[in-house]
Amino acid sequence: MPRTILGLESSCDDTAAAILRGREVLSSVVAGQGGLHAAYGGVVPEIAARAHAETLDGVVAEALREADLTLGEVDAIAVTAGPGLIGGVLAGVMMAKGLAAGSGKPLIGVNHLAGHALTPRLTDDLAYPYLMLLVSGGHCQFLIVRGPEDFTRLGGTIDDAPGEAFDKTARLLGLAQPGGPSVETEARHGDASRFAFPRPLLDRPGCDLSFSGLKTAILRQRDALVAAQRGLTRQDRADLCAGFQAAVRDVLSEKTRRALALYRAEHPAQPALAVAGGVAANGSLRAALRDVCADAGVVFTAPPLKLCTDNAAMIAYAGGELMEAGRASDMTLAARPRWPL
Ligand code: KG4
Ligand code: ZN
Repeated sequence: MPRTILGLESSCDDTAAAILRGREVLSSVVAGQGGLHAAYGGVVPEIAARAHAETLDGVVAEALREADLTLGEVDAIAVTAGPGLIGGVLAGVMMAKGLAAGSGKPLIGVNHLAGHALTPRLTDDLAYPYLMLLVSGGHCQFLIVRGPEDFTRLGGTIDDAPGEAFDKTARLLGLAQPGGPSVETEARHGDASRFAFPRPLLDRPGCDLSFSGLKTAILRQRDALVAAQRGLTRQDRADLCAGFQAAVRDVLSEKTRRALALYRAEHPAQPALAVAGGVAANGSLRAALRDVCADAGVVFTAPPLKLCTDNAAMIAYAGGELMEAGRASDMTLAARPRWPL
């Protein structure tokens, strides 16, 4: 029988627990903290840490209940040990250690980014190696994924992550958080050509990206409109969102083309691109990446949305692969705010 693994995730503003049996998701519970941070315009680490500590018990109980299992029937406990907001990561690691000590089950620490990067193997059975574009609220990088601990970074953002840029754009325009879905919704009835947005770093070779200039462009355009007409109309907002989203999409598409060329030079036999992270939920970006892959004769996969954003199923899955590879953690497992792949 395949291993049954309880996964825990608490590195940002979602408290999550999930149970996997092999590649079958028996339960996946995600408790968001959106409302708690809404008044502050961003995730407040102290508030997040306290909420994780208070919520973890409940989400673990809920994940076990939905899977109709007791802790004694679980084979191992996997937990995000970084990177992320240290208070939240600590809360998860302490909870996992307590569960492991209490039940005598093995403990395995998982890198949150590896969780995202391995998700296409959980959902699509994708074979190694593949190219991964990880785009989230905290991260943006191109990775060649060769194994659960074998990653090569081809490039990434030199400043903000794209999700952060979506969130800041929403904030500047008075739209709800998280900004990605709000901006995407507004952009649907907007004209992307009305305002000029830069396409940062396209003039430079390589796969690095930059998003902070786009956020500044939104600020400038907004202020110009406010000065000229004392406020923003619904259409102004939609057009700004559409222009911003088109710029993000164009830059990510072009850099993906370049990353694919580098990847294929090394791995000509198996052309595959997988995308993960919260920004991969963006329909316009997905469609553009699908086109890039179709043009290049490359297989494109994107996990279903609820496994693209932060969740614990991906942590349980990555934990399982690490255990297959003979890895295990013990009670010295440390929470790491930084942990590059
Ligand atoms: O992966 P994730 O859940 O958390 C981490 O950052 O690790 O990603 C959250 C980010 C947020 O910045 C959110 O605005 C963005 O993903 N996001 C989107 C969309 N849905 C979520 N960005 C663009 N378009 C979307 N539809
Ligand atoms: Zn994430």
